Amino acid sequence: MTIMTMTLDKQGAPLYRQIADAIAQKVQLQELMPGTKLPTHRALADALSVTVGTVTRAYAEAERRGIVEARVGAGTYITQSDKPLWTFAAPERPGVLSFGYNVPPAINRADLFSEALQQLAAHPNELNNLMLYQPPSGIVRHREILASWLAGHQVIASPERLLFCSGAQSAMQLCLLTLCRAGDTILADKLTYPGLMSLARQLQLTVKPVEMDDEGITPASLKSACQQYQPRLVYLTPTLQNPTTAIMGTERRKEIIALCQKAQITIVEDDVNGLLPRERPEPMVNLAPDSVIYIGGLAKPWHQACALGSCTCLTASILISSMPCKTTAG
Ligand SMILES: Cc1ncc(COP(=O)(O)O)c(C=O)c1O
Repeated sequence: MTIMTMTLDKQGAPLYRQIADAIAQKVQLQELMPGTKLPTHRALADALSVTVGTVTRAYAEAERRGIVEARVGAGTYITQSDKPLWTFAAPERPGVLSFGYNVPPAINRADLFSEALQQLAAHPNELNNLMLYQPPSGIVRHREILASWLAGHQVIASPERLLFCSGAQSAMQLCLLTLCRAGDTILADKLTYPGLMSLARQLQLTVKPVEMDDEGITPASLKSACQQYQPRLVYLTPTLQNPTTAIMGTERRKEIIALCQKAQITIVEDDVNGLLPRERPEPMVNLAPDSVIYIGGLAKPWHQACALGSCTCLTASILISSMPCKTTAG
């Protein structure tokens, strides 16, 4: 039998649901493998300082979601499933895993949607309000929730500087549309995320490469590229760079920021992978909030995004602008 540890928020969602969510998350992270026997109701209740009734309800909820199965007289077990846990299986080539796309696992989405919709249905006024036109940069309450979630993940952002976008790609497009005009030059790592190149082509921007080492772009190459091309901005993925997975250290981040401030160019910090490593250097936006536009996303760090509840169903993205966002209705 496995001993389960989890942190419960007594002020948050109902405890039984938090426990069921925590079990689901442990299954997704493969901390609990199929066939694992869960603690008895009494043992888990004692370990978590909750009532036995709460654990019974949590296990029933987990069973309803298909995560666990109760075997009469034997206890509760993580469900044995023939289905692959990850979406990486390439359907056209059985037995082959495809890592061409970095996507969240496609399990338990229906549950999340159903839970979110049930919560909305329980508050018809809120639902009606959501049907009205909203501020283009997002509902203030949502931005406040997001700001405090980001703060828990090392990203400092005040709600009025946050903007919701439909994915990081659309946030990148917004940055380029706002900061550049056709014919402008922008800088990026010599090897960069292909999505940047397609946006640049669409918007008739020229992307000039900056030499890299194992921390990403080098200050010397950035300096000479700034002098040679007078770029509008530099696009960077300082944590888990795509495609090299390089992580830029704090000193290098500071050097790059100082150079960009001197050359008066904006840094677009694409941090879609920033929450994946257990530890990472301070995001560049924290070091220079007025010189950096930060793009975050919920599509890759799906397990942390679960804490945002139903938001994890969406591949929403977060853009922290270096200017307060206007909130006039569109
Ligand atoms: C570095 C980088 N930026 C942006 C994106 C786009 O993210 P989204 O799916 O949220 O549009 C990706 C997608 O893989 C990516 O790797």
